[in-house]
Amino acid sequence: MAWKTIDDMGMAGKTALVRVDINVPMEAGVVTDATRIEKIKPTVEDLIARGAKVVLLAHFDRPKGKVVPEMSLGHVKAALEAALGRKVVFGSDCIGAPAKAAIAAAHQGDVVLLENTRFHPGEEKNDPALAAELAALGDVFVNDAFSAAHRAHASTEGLAKLLPSAAGRLMEAELKALEAALGTPVRPVVAVVGGAKVSTKLDLLGNLVTKVDHLVIGGGMANTFLVAQGIEVGKSLAERDMAPTALEIIGKAKAAGCTIHLPVDVVVAREFKAGAANETVAATACPADAMILDAGPKTVAELTKVFGACKTLIWNGPLGAFEIEPFNAATNAAAKVAADLTKAGALVSVAGGGDTVAALNQAGAAADFTFISTAGGAFLEWMEGKVLPGVAALG
Ligand code: 3PG
Repeated sequence: MAWKTIDDMGMAGKTALVRVDINVPMEAGVVTDATRIEKIKPTVEDLIARGAKVVLLAHFDRPKGKVVPEMSLGHVKAALEAALGRKVVFGSDCIGAPAKAAIAAAHQGDVVLLENTRFHPGEEKNDPALAAELAALGDVFVNDAFSAAHRAHASTEGLAKLLPSAAGRLMEAELKALEAALGTPVRPVVAVVGGAKVSTKLDLLGNLVTKVDHLVIGGGMANTFLVAQGIEVGKSLAERDMAPTALEIIGKAKAAGCTIHLPVDVVVAREFKAGAANETVAATACPADAMILDAGPKTVAELTKVFGACKTLIWNGPLGAFEIEPFNAATNAAAKVAADLTKAGALVSVAGGGDTVAALNQAGAAADFTFISTAGGAFLEWMEGKVLPGVAALG
């Protein structure tokens, strides 16, 4: 899909409404991970350098159309000022007089941050009246929030239809990386999909088997696939009622020429806790009173071969219970292999979604991946092959 970028639009003297995703983790009113804030800097700097006045629109958390003081973007202002190194003028509403006053008060080079768009019920309903009130505040719309692009909201989708619109730098980078990984990738392509439940990733698996050459299934999801093939998994997390669905996915993969890789050996324990006594057994030999908490070294050796034979890798979800040691071993080892191949120029590697980035950071592998998406739900929907309304509206 073609979309305009900042380069395609005159910005001098314009007020640019910039949709960003600064929905960052916060504890006791303090931002604990500013990654998403730091990532909007190239767009903000570029727009200011081109002579635009930057007005940030964003949501924070899920206030469900009401004013919830703990979910005020005012709590993010200090972190934003620190990351941008610029004065931030805060508007106590994202529309109307408070928004207009904040924009008027900002000097060239300052950044305006307007209050949580989700304080208005019209945001999530994509209400044209709210979109029109937002549009009245500026001249152009720049969407830099790929990670919120799966939501057809007034500030993501509605607004794009009312003003000349372009993708911001982060949006551009996300779209290019994802296109390179799954749209027109260099083959062979391997997808690694882990996580607890097959039921939450059905559409994703169904789409991937038609697009990739190898699909590695890990985490609790792999147990469901083992069960579907008549393999007993003891007390492991498994969705037994999803066995027929797992078989359908296996059939679809076969028909599409995609090889599915399940663990060949597993690390089992009797307790789900850090440091629990454990043993490594064949995937077909999980004791009845034990649970599978990680893939074993033979599986990692197999994945090393698969990664080595591929040119593109896309990763979503850990291979085991990565949050408790030592059951992060397979995720860490496989992530390291992917990172090393990437560093050597042999692999294009893209990862994203929820726990994935945490797992790759923990493995010390994230920095060497080609691209790490800032998106959670949007990354998953994109892997499912869905059109993201916030992106479509830029076309
Ligand atoms: C995210 O954190 O993934 C985005 O900000 C979207 O948030 P949402 O799931 O509340 O729409």
